[in-house]
Amino acid sequence: MTSALRGAYSLRRRLLAWLLVSTAVIGAIAMVDTWDEAIDTANEVSDRVLAGSALAIAERVIVSEDGSLEVDIPYVALEMLTSAAQDRVFYRVDGPPGTFITGYQSLPSIARREGQAAAFGDSSFRGEPIRVAALTRSASTGINSVPFTVTVAETTIARQQLTQAILLRSALRILFMILGAAVIVWVAVTLSLRSLYRFSEALAERSPDDLAPITERVPNEVQGLVDTVNSFMVRLEGALDALRHFTGNAGHQLRTPLAIVRTHLALASRATDLAEIRKATERADEAVGGAEHILAQLLLMARIDSASRSSTMREVDLVDLVCGVTADHVPPAAEAGIDLGFEGEGEVRAVVEPILIGELVKNLVSNALLYAGSGAEVTVRVNAEDGSAVVEVEDNGPGIPAARRETVLKRFERGEPGERAGTGLGLPIVEEIARLHGANLVLSEGREGVGLKVRVSFAAV
Ligand SMILES: Nc1ncnc2c1ncn2[C@@H]1O[C@H](COP(=O)(O)OP(=O)(O)OP(=O)(O)O)[C@@H](O)[C@H]1O
Ligand SMILES: [Mg+2]
Repeated sequence: MTSALRGAYSLRRRLLAWLLVSTAVIGAIAMVDTWDEAIDTANEVSDRVLAGSALAIAERVIVSEDGSLEVDIPYVALEMLTSAAQDRVFYRVDGPPGTFITGYQSLPSIARREGQAAAFGDSSFRGEPIRVAALTRSASTGINSVPFTVTVAETTIARQQLTQAILLRSALRILFMILGAAVIVWVAVTLSLRSLYRFSEALAERSPDDLAPITERVPNEVQGLVDTVNSFMVRLEGALDALRHFTGNAGHQLRTPLAIVRTHLALASRATDLAEIRKATERADEAVGGAEHILAQLLLMARIDSASRSSTMREVDLVDLVCGVTADHVPPAAEAGIDLGFEGEGEVRAVVEPILIGELVKNLVSNALLYAGSGAEVTVRVNAEDGSAVVEVEDNGPGIPAARRETVLKRFERGEPGERAGTGLGLPIVEEIARLHGANLVLSEGREGVGLKVRVSFAAV
């Protein structure tokens, strides 16, 4: 499967990873918050009990007859604290500063802040962590009042247990929430992907040459992909059609000259006199030349097809480019008794693929030389006309009747049988090159209704 491909990944696993990582992060933050809250809650609950027992002790502090403070510890109040866990409870009662009354003298006390009923704090005693509550009151003798402080402390086992219980409960809750969300995502993704699986099954079941559009129902998010695939299929269908048509025709076109070559070679091998052999080989050579021309035109076609994908267009001066190509044809024109001329001044700039424009002009000029007939006049023209760069090739030969002007643009469409050898690819090549450049191609009669005028107009720069 595709998962073996480099860089392939599972959508489901990726979504799950995202979900798990994000909920784990959120869960961790929630746990830290819960930890704080749990400690506060546990402290609040136990502090109230600690303060209660401190108060119970304070109420038992009296002033004896000799003016000193006395206390009768209410052990029940302390038991109230120890009942919850294995916590141990300590206390001390101090009189006015510097006087210790009863309890554990080494028990640390804490200072009460002004205006506070009781003070609470964390400390340690005999190597164990403790929570301390201190309460300051005063006992009255009737004449004066004597201040005293009651300090009650307990070890923190119970409150640690409470904190842990709260934490554990909330950790379990978060864990269940994450697992629940993972299951939901798993199921939801599986269900959502089902339409994608159906889509790929539908594609897999197709016969290789079925390029009809895909009509399976898919989610909106995937519709874009399906549309792209569909439009790709349409283009593929077109390209395959063209290829089938083209290779069929090309094979046919090449077979004829090759058959002629074989015939003439056979004739030559059987011939007895030198003149006959020479004539046969000349014919064979002509046929090879024809085949060579067909191949050149076919390769040019293939080149145009690839040029539409990789663009090598650049801005050039068409006057310079087209004049050069025309000059190349002056000798063959003179040989054919044709007056080939060029008209064009200054610079006419356009963005084109220079080699293809050369081929376009070459095909038009060689058509004119081939079909206009001896004594004809052929003019190649380049000029700028409101916003476009125009290239024209005009002759005063027989021209192409208006009714045939469209057909000659089709591949392998040729003139009357018996006409001079050609592949029927020249004008289609011209049209393809024009189309590739977004240029407009018009075939019409020449001046005074005589001959053929081919006009290609490009967008000027
Ligand atoms: N200037 C012209 N005057 C008269 N007829 C023309 C002219 N140019 C083209 N034609 C006609 O159009 C037909 C198609 O031309 P096209 O250039 O496409 O093919 P071809 O010349 O036969 O082959 P190729 O150019 O590939 O060698 C020609 O066979 C010819 O009948
Ligand atoms: Mg031609």
